[in-house]
Amino acid sequence: MSGLVVTGWGTAVPSRVVTNAELSATLDTSDEWIVERTGIKERRVGSTTSALAIEAGRAALDVAGLTGSDIDLVILATTTGDRIVPATSPTVQDALGISGGAMDLNAACSGFVYGLVTASGLLATGLSRILLIGAETLSKITDWTDRSNAILFGDGAGALVLEATEGPGDLLGWDLGSDGSATNILRCEHGSTIEMDGKEVFRRAVRVMVESSNLALERAGVSIDDIDLVVPHQANLRIIQAACQRLGVSEERAAVVIDRYGNTSSASIPLALVDSLESGRVSSGDLLLLTGFGAGMTWASAVLRWAR
Ligand code: UT7
Repeated sequence: MSGLVVTGWGTAVPSRVVTNAELSATLDTSDEWIVERTGIKERRVGSTTSALAIEAGRAALDVAGLTGSDIDLVILATTTGDRIVPATSPTVQDALGISGGAMDLNAACSGFVYGLVTASGLLATGLSRILLIGAETLSKITDWTDRSNAILFGDGAGALVLEATEGPGDLLGWDLGSDGSATNILRCEHGSTIEMDGKEVFRRAVRVMVESSNLALERAGVSIDDIDLVVPHQANLRIIQAACQRLGVSEERAAVVIDRYGNTSSASIPLALVDSLESGRVSSGDLLLLTGFGAGMTWASAVLRWAR
C-alpha cells in the first residue's frame, strides 16, 4: 500500500474585489452588519471555474516541479462547473497537458476534503500523482438582490499536487459524512440561484464539524491538542469560532481567509491552507486538521501531517 504526500500547492482568485461598501450601495445592508455577523470584508468576483482551476493547478505543478504530463488524474471539486455536461475537469486536463484522467466531484463545501480522501484511495491502489483542485464561481448562482445571500459568496480556486509514497504517508485519519434529509436547507436548482435557511445551516454546521473532526482525530490516533493548525471551511467566522470553542482549540490556531474571500465553497479550504503555507504559519512536521461542511448536507474532515 502507498500513502499520500503533498508536493505542490497554488491558488487563483479573480482580480475584481467587491467590498461590503460596494454591496451596501445596492442592498439594504452595511459593512458593520456583514463584518459583525460573518467576518467578511470583501470577496473576489469574476472569471470562470475552469480558468481559476487552471491557474491554481498550474501554480501547484510549478511548486512540485512537475508538468501536466506527470499527472495521472485531475480531480476538480466544484459545484459551479462551466456547464452541466461535459464536466469542467477535462477542460483543465487539456489546458495543463495532463496525460491521465479527469473527474469533477460535487460534495459542495466539503468537496475538497472528499477529493483528498478519494485521491488517497487511488494513490494507494496504483496511481502515482494526482492534481486535486477546488474551484468555484459562486457569483454566477448568487442572487445579487438578496442581502442574506449576496454578502456571503465569492469566487476562487486552490490546488494541491498529491503523490504516492511508500508506507502510510501523511493523511493520518479522515471522516466523510452526509445527511440527504437536509437537502432543502441549502440548495440551487438548475437555472436558479442559491436558497438557504442560514440559521439552520449554521446550527448544523457547528455540530457536524465538531463530530466529524473528533472522528478524524480519533482515527488518526491524535488529540486536538496535537493539532498545530485547523483549516476549516470558510462560511462564517462565527461558525469557525464556535467550532473551535467546542473542539477545545484556540481560534488563534484556525486559518482564516474569509475576511478577504467570503465563502468560496470547494475552494475555501485550499485557499486557507495555501495562505497559511505562504505566510510561513506551517512548519515541517505540523499536524493539520481540515474540516468542512456544506450542502447535502455533507461534511468531511482529515488530519494531515505537513512533511515539507
Ligand atoms: O457553505 C455553507 C453556506 N452557508 C452558511 O454557512 C450560512 C450559515 N449561516 C450564516 O452564516 C448566518 O445565518 C447568516 C450570515 C446567513 C445570517 O446571520 P444571522 O445572524 O443568522 O442573521 P438572521 O438570518 O437571523 O437575520 C437577523 C436579521 C434579520 O432581520 P430581523 O428579522 O431581525 O428584522 C434579517 O432580515 O438581520 C437581517 N439581515 C440583514 N441585515 C443587514 C439578514 N441579512 C442581512 C444583511 N444586512 N445582509
